[in-house]
This record gives sequence, C-alpha cells and structure tokens, in this order.
Amino acid sequence: MIKPHGADALNPLLVTDTEERDRLIAEAAALPSLLLSSAAAANAVMLGGGYFTPLTGYMNVADALSVSQNMHTVDGLFWPVPVLNLANDISGIDGASRIALRDPNVDGEPVIAIMDVDAIEEISAQQKDTMTEQVFGTLDSSHPGVAAFQAQGNQCVSGSIHVLNLSYFASEFAGTFQTAVEIRADIAARGWEKVVAFQTRNPMHLAHEELCRMAMERLKADGVVIHMLLGKLKAGDIPASVRDACIRKMVDLYFPENTVLVSGYGFDMLYAGPREAVLHAVFRQNMGATHLIVGRDHAGVGDFYGPFDAQDIFDEIPDGALEIEIFGADHTAWSRKLNKVVMMREAPDHEPSDYVIVSGTRLREMLGEGITPPPEVARPEVAQILMGHYQAEAN
Ligand code: ADX
Repeated sequence: MIKPHGADALNPLLVTDTEERDRLIAEAAALPSLLLSSAAAANAVMLGGGYFTPLTGYMNVADALSVSQNMHTVDGLFWPVPVLNLANDISGIDGASRIALRDPNVDGEPVIAIMDVDAIEEISAQQKDTMTEQVFGTLDSSHPGVAAFQAQGNQCVSGSIHVLNLSYFASEFAGTFQTAVEIRADIAARGWEKVVAFQTRNPMHLAHEELCRMAMERLKADGVVIHMLLGKLKAGDIPASVRDACIRKMVDLYFPENTVLVSGYGFDMLYAGPREAVLHAVFRQNMGATHLIVGRDHAGVGDFYGPFDAQDIFDEIPDGALEIEIFGADHTAWSRKLNKVVMMREAPDHEPSDYVIVSGTRLREMLGEGITPPPEVARPEVAQILMGHYQAEAN
C-alpha cells in the first residue's frame, strides 16, 4: 500500500486506549483551557484521524511562514497550508505549558484535545497578510477562505496535541465520516491496490460521476473513494447530509458493487484552490489513495483561480515530495454529438453549443422551482433529493 506522507506509518493523534483517554479527560478538567476557532478544531480532527501525518500538532509562526512561502516547514517537510491554532484571547492560558482545547462546534464546548504548548507568539498583521496572499493568492475579503482566515486571532498557539474525540463528525455523519486509519483498513480489506480519490463538496452530477468512471477505467483502478467534505462551507453550499444522500443514491444506482467507497472527512473548506488541492493530495495519500482526481477549478471559488491552476501547481512541487499521483481532468460535459459525457480537450471538433451545460446558478434555480434538470446534467434520482432540499429550505 502507498506510504503515508513523510512517514513509514500513519500518526493518528487520537488517543484510542480507553484508560489513557480517561486519564487525559480527567487531567483536562483541571487544566487551563482555550476555546478553539472552528478552523483550529477542524485541524485537530484531521490530526486526530491521521490525515495530517506526520504532523504532531499546530505549527509555530516560523513554520507557518515557511509553509506559506515555499510549501516546506523549517525542517524541510513538504506541506502546502499552515496548520494553525490562532486565538484572540489567551489570558486564560498565559504561561501554561499544558492546556485543554475546547471545541466551539459542539454544545457545551467540551475538551477536544490536550496540548503541550511550545510557544504563544503574536502574528503581525503583515505576517498574516503575507500568509493569506501566499496561500489563497489574494487578500480580497470577498474570498470566503480569506475572510475566515483573517477573522481568526493573532495569537499563534503552537505545540503537539493529544486528541480526545473527533468533534461532531462521528455522531452526525455516522457511516460516512471516517479517519485515515479507517479508510486504509477498508482499502486493505477490499484488496484494492490502485485507488482513486475524488474530492467533493457538492452533490455529484453526471459530469462528476463520469469523471470518477473515466479515472477508474483509464487508470485501471480497483476502486474509487468518494471523499466528501463534512465540515463548514460558505453560505449557500449544500449541507453535507443532503450531499451524502445524493452521492449514496448515485453510487447505489449507477456503479457496480464494491467499486466505490463513500466516505467523508471533517474539515472546513478553505476555498484555497491550488494550495488546497495539494493539501487534498497529501491527506488522500495518507488515507491510502494512489491517485487524486483534480478537475476544473478544484477547490476554487468565484473567479479567484484559473480553471486549471490547481493542476498546474503539481508541476511546481519537487520530485518525490508526494507519492500520490494526480488524474488531471479537463472541463467535462455532455456532448450532444457523441451522446455521452466527454472531456472537452478530447473533442476538438466541438463548438460550445455542442455541449449541454447548465450553470450552477441556473441549476439551483431549477431545483428550487421544482423543475427537473436535463438528464444530461443530473441523474433524476439525485435531482429529486436536491429538489426536496431546496423546497424544504424555501418553506
Ligand atoms: S471542490 O471544491 O471540492 O473541488 P466540487 O465538489 O464541485 O468542488 O468538485 C469536485 C471535483 O470535480 C474537483 O476535482 C473539480 O475540479 C471536479 N469538477 C467538478 N465539475 C467539473 C467539470 N464540469 N469538469 C471537470 N472537472 C470538474
């Protein structure tokens, strides 16, 4: 099986030994505590599940700046996006070397992890802007990832952590949320060797479905892991429970048995386009995938990135930095001439009018109005679920 990133074995920071966990929970009750941002809590969940192997906790300012600038930590580990715990109010933990981290996303703000504090450093506005520009490619606050990052505090609390639970993901998305450890075990149990990962934050329409099929066939893969984001999204994006239902319906009806693993991970969407695509590759390698599909405007938002920037960035990363490979896909749509979904670069004789393309905005309008979209765009059974969602939202 493909090796984890930067390590021989996965390094999940979730404490699974019951006695040890109970001991840490008891200890946490007496420790000074810090309420995390949602982004920092999501980092804890990713670290807990082994997705962020080989990291052992939150980065300090030097590592965050280095990662932002050249995708390597100070010690030379390849890593594309800072993994930070940024806080505003550190009065409760000032001077403490061991603290409890509380989860803002669960009622009662329970402790999610214990941290050995290495440093608490102030990030200057200029350092934060530099990181923002290097990671997101813009400082524009209308970019939802930029706005979320800039809204986080300026105190960088770094150090290693012991994760006590995986937030709301395991209970809210039982059966879908999985750790990297679990996915590796699942892949091994299925006997899959060549495994394609499909990143998604949307319900899957026909183009997405066909992308998975094309990748499977062309790579002669044993299976595909449809790996959906279960964390926070920008306003207007479709809730994870609805996307999950859509994806499961599509897989049940249109894929042969035992070729697809439907799974999800607990992380807030960054919308960081190319840099997020590289992060996606890192943690898909950690979960055991040999290939990641990167299509058009992967992890993008609005017009902030060129449609294939998230593929081009992989040409810039040093040889050997990652073992996972990219399946780069061109814009994919239904061809009226060929009566099937095609990648546009493979249909050079086509005019734009030869494709059936419905914009995301129009699709949402149609679904909201109860109009079934064309079958060349969406499976009717999936559209049905989405119409139910939009109509419930309207009422
Ligand atoms: S993402 O933000 O998680 O990347 P989304 O769920 O829409 O968004 O896309 C999942 C994957 O499918 C990404 O790799 C994206 O580039 C790809 N993709 C989506 N739609 C198309 C399309 N029409 N043509 C090519 N690739 C696409």
